[in-house]
Amino acid sequence: MPIIAPSLLAANFLRLEDECHLVNESEADWLHFDVMDGRFVPNISFGLPVLKAVRKACRKFIDVHLMIEEPEKFAEDFKKAGADGLTVHYETCRHLHRNIQQIKSLGMQAGVVINPHTPVLLLNDILEDVDMVLLMSVNPGFGGQAFIPHTYEKIRELRRAIDERGLPVKIQIDGGVTLENAPHLVEAGADVLVAGNTVFSSPDPMETIRQLKAVAPRKAVA
Ligand code: DX5
Ligand code: ZN
Repeated sequence: MPIIAPSLLAANFLRLEDECHLVNESEADWLHFDVMDGRFVPNISFGLPVLKAVRKACRKFIDVHLMIEEPEKFAEDFKKAGADGLTVHYETCRHLHRNIQQIKSLGMQAGVVINPHTPVLLLNDILEDVDMVLLMSVNPGFGGQAFIPHTYEKIRELRRAIDERGLPVKIQIDGGVTLENAPHLVEAGADVLVAGNTVFSSPDPMETIRQLKAVAPRKAVA
């Protein structure tokens, strides 16, 4: 079964506590928390004070996706605010290896994320150091965008690279995940599905999370 991570970006910000309780009571495993700086991505979302408040209400693993320049400046602050995992963009890290070690040394799960245009093979020399690779299936910055189909090829390529080396690295997909494409994503090799609008804009978010969680398990690689 995939790990399901509803994205808070699509929640009702006037009722954040209720939205956290909904996630707590659902079959979701993680809460995905998108931080945007208006520089790396053309949008601004929320940051440390909101995470601190959400942490008080959220009992699930908080998976922070940093869409910000110079993420190393804030890693410790995000840990203190309650992040369980921190994922940084390949495109923002000139010293990615150092950034990943920093996140781990702070006691968080360390992830690296690549944009739709960034090739999977650029991750070859960091794969052994990360806990998770996030493949963006939309251009980061906004919720509610359409899934980019080329992501399937990237999932398969990454799955192969991880399995050939016997690594415990998880593959996460973020952007345009729906009830329709979720089974195909899992079959291609995804372990973690982020879903914003599919969950929070649905008439029954709890039931939608349950359905996402119930998608068929990934077939073992021969
Ligand atoms: C986009 C964010 C996503 C976003 C996904 O930049 O990284 O996490 O919340 O939203 P949906 O699932 O609506 O595409
Ligand atoms: Zn995200």
